[in-house]
Amino acid sequence: MIRENEIRENEVAVAPPSAQDAGLEFIGRISTPWTSRMETPRQGRHDGPVCVIDVFEPWDRALEGVAKFERLEVLYWLDRSRRDLVLQSPASNGKIHGTFSLRTPVRPNPIGTSIVVLDKIEGNRLFVRGLDCLDGTPLLDLKPDRTLFKPIAPPQAGDFQTGESDTAHYCQKA
Ligand SMILES: C[S@@+](CC[C@H](N)C(=O)[O-])C[C@H]1O[C@@H](n2cnc3c(N)ncnc32)[C@H](O)[C@@H]1O
Repeated sequence: MIRENEIRENEVAVAPPSAQDAGLEFIGRISTPWTSRMETPRQGRHDGPVCVIDVFEPWDRALEGVAKFERLEVLYWLDRSRRDLVLQSPASNGKIHGTFSLRTPVRPNPIGTSIVVLDKIEGNRLFVRGLDCLDGTPLLDLKPDRTLFKPIAPPQAGDFQTGESDTAHYCQKA
């Protein structure tokens, strides 16, 4: 079942988030073949159609060095989602699941993420495969796939800290 904006059997909505400005900026726009949620893949696939990410000025300068990564993590704003459901029924069968146990676009802050394969970059334009968003979806961020990325900054103490180090006082319940 694809959600438009309906509430399904046993689903629970709460008051949607009030407009608090987190200072998010849409830094680009994603062009995809999909104009309807009825057709959009639930999760992108690396052999899926090529999609285009246009990065707006002045952020296009931040693309320096990106071409060397075979895969990128793309974060986007699922702008046509409702944001008020805490319990959802993905199969529309009355069986409900907590929003945070799902990758549904319907969430308080509708951020989508995908690992995409980078085909090529032309100026401020990236050609990628692996997206699952509607045409015109706003771009929030781009990062190298974490499995391909080695920190450039020198290591620091926390990098070597394991769970054995000591009892985490900040984790203890009062
Ligand atoms: C299940 S979400 C997964 C998103 C991302 N891959 C993730 O896991 O965070 C993908 C679905 O979100 C819906 N969707 C895509 N673009 C959207 C948009 N701009 N606004 C609202 N819903 C969107 C479509 O129904 C699509 O199948």
